Amino acid sequence: MNIVLVGTQWGDEGKGKIIDLLSEDTDIIVRYQGGNNAGHTVIIGEEEFILHLIPSGILRPNKECFIGNGVVIDPKALLEEIQMLRDRNVDVGPHNLHISKSANVIMPYHKLTDRLREEEAIGRIGTTKRGIGPTYLDKAGRVGIRMVDLLSETQLTWKLKRNLKEINLILQKIYGEKGVSYDQLMEEYLEYGKKLQDYIKDTVSLLNFHINQKKNVLFEGAQGTMLDVDHGTYPFVTSSNTTAGGACTGTGVGPTKIDKVIGVMKAYTTRVGEGPFPTELEGEMADKLRNAGPIGEYGRSTGRPRRCGWLDMVVVRRSVLVNGLDSLAITRLDILDDLDKIYVCNKYKYKDTYIEDFPEELEILQNCTPVYEEVKGWKTPTAEIKEFTKLPQKALEYISKIEDLTGVPINILSVGPKRLQTIKK
Ligand code: GDP
Ligand code: IMO
Ligand code: MG
Repeated sequence: MNIVLVGTQWGDEGKGKIIDLLSEDTDIIVRYQGGNNAGHTVIIGEEEFILHLIPSGILRPNKECFIGNGVVIDPKALLEEIQMLRDRNVDVGPHNLHISKSANVIMPYHKLTDRLREEEAIGRIGTTKRGIGPTYLDKAGRVGIRMVDLLSETQLTWKLKRNLKEINLILQKIYGEKGVSYDQLMEEYLEYGKKLQDYIKDTVSLLNFHINQKKNVLFEGAQGTMLDVDHGTYPFVTSSNTTAGGACTGTGVGPTKIDKVIGVMKAYTTRVGEGPFPTELEGEMADKLRNAGPIGEYGRSTGRPRRCGWLDMVVVRRSVLVNGLDSLAITRLDILDDLDKIYVCNKYKYKDTYIEDFPEELEILQNCTPVYEEVKGWKTPTAEIKEFTKLPQKALEYISKIEDLTGVPINILSVGPKRLQTIKK
């Protein structure tokens, strides 16, 4: 069975935990888009791992992990992540980590222009400043440097020379910065190539070979549907296709090979960075959601506090559509344990009209008000519950309401960050 797992909101839904759970019955775990803007948390026993680039499946023994062509890779960050895992006794090497030759490389000038653009007062997106946007810009502009280029001095030479001619003009004339030195970059990136050469492969052939051998593959989405460059709250999005289709283009596996798509949905909503968020809360209620439970809502990549709000079904229903979701996994249900009342947004009000289908107009998203349905809280701790039927009645009603409003079954319920704090229905 080949499964794609995606975030249904604005990222940080708890994908890392669910990936770790599903990896148990999977042979291969694949990242297909994004880069080290992601931060996926997996808790094993008392240990916490935060993965940015390497698939979360690496934490289980005897799994093979792939970083597909759709991912953008900062080689320095990748080498650091490999080292971090090895220091913590996780087995990582070219035998269980395969990196696509065609994945685009994040260069220092991408990180620099990401930061410089963010410092402009107009149009701030609140990016992670990891160089993600500028790298995808070069990829689409056909001037990207690919992982395979790090293995060829001739290829890297002409591409880097061509790119620096333009980028140094931009840095100097537009931003008043110093230019970037060709010699230094050349030396540094050829060195990364040497260190990573055994990992860099034809992942399309290798992955399809495994699929033809009936191995089980899990495609690990990063970010969330509302951050998708086509389907999200554009322009306040990331620069890749975070939705299920990205799993095919980002790995070279055809859509006929995908059996199932699972969406991960937090029991409420969070967002990091700028952009519209209709159900966002402020003040005491937002703080309560942010600080409840064992791990608060602070970014795993940048440490920024996450914006918090109620569950938005207009958003999740859009995710059901654009990903073709078969089922949902709900996470952080335990965070709602103490609340007297819980609210679910099922439509927006804009001027005199009600909107149930996700609006693509930024104008509407920024100015609509959510229309809520009230649900009574269960006021019972859920973190130790292991069986679906043992959940408090009001929690079951909340679950059933979400299933009704999305038309999709919830098959996995997470009531804490640990592996055992999971209920399968
Ligand atoms: P990801 O980016 O989608 O993998 O999510 P993050 O790792 O950025 O954020 C999710 C956070 O919630 C992490 O700190 C997880 O350890 C934690 N988490 C996941 N599931 C649950 C849950 O059911 N309850 C609680 N309290 N925390 C959870
Ligand atoms: P995971 O995989 C939450 C957000 C940034 C910013 C926007 C664009 O952990 O869910 P970028 O650096 O990608 O150009 O920033 O996207 N963002 C995320 N938000 N979780 C993530 O990943 C994110 N990756 C990017 O905060 O608003
Ligand atoms: Mg995250």
